[in-house]
Amino acid sequence: MQHRLQAFANRGLTRRPNEVIEWVMAEAFAVADLPAAKAARYDALRVEIAAVLEGEANPVARMATVAAMLAQAFDTFFWTGFYVVDPARPAELVVGPYQGTLGCLRIAFGRGVCGAAAAARESVIVPDVEAFPGHIACDSRSRSEIVVPVLDAGGALLAVLDIDSTDLAAFDEGDRQGLEAIARLVPPPSAD
Ligand code: SME
Repeated sequence: MQHRLQAFANRGLTRRPNEVIEWVMAEAFAVADLPAAKAARYDALRVEIAAVLEGEANPVARMATVAAMLAQAFDTFFWTGFYVVDPARPAELVVGPYQGTLGCLRIAFGRGVCGAAAAARESVIVPDVEAFPGHIACDSRSRSEIVVPVLDAGGALLAVLDIDSTDLAAFDEGDRQGLEAIARLVPPPSAD
């Protein structure tokens, strides 16, 4: 099946808020044109995502774009999205932009795979969620998952990127490297 998505970015919006917004096509995101091999696919996708995010400082827009493009690029991704550190309750993650079936709204630090990755500020790969103590089953079809921290330039935790698959052992070291590189695109550059 051929997917073709036209991604658009607005340019100049933050410069003069009252002027007519000019919409220009930033990049054609053609999933069918991405390389099949995993490492090359992540590399190409990272470049595409960076191009679409350029000039956009809003963190929700950035996370929503990353979730949508990742979910389209990998058929094995059943749930793809973010749990964000809640400024009102800093020991909790609250659901952010995602693609997939209904996710849990809140996860305490240290609970489940997301909470473990948030507490350690390190990626966690779980080949079989049923073997992970305290796994939070938002959807019983999820069989394996990877959770990657999203850190700001100072190393503070902003969110985690959580990806679930209905396949057992769907994620490996290549996914960790590819997703960590993409997670680094999430915080808006300070120069934006
Ligand atoms: N699996 C996660 C919970 C979030 S859902 O999968 C969307 C966990 O155990 O942290």
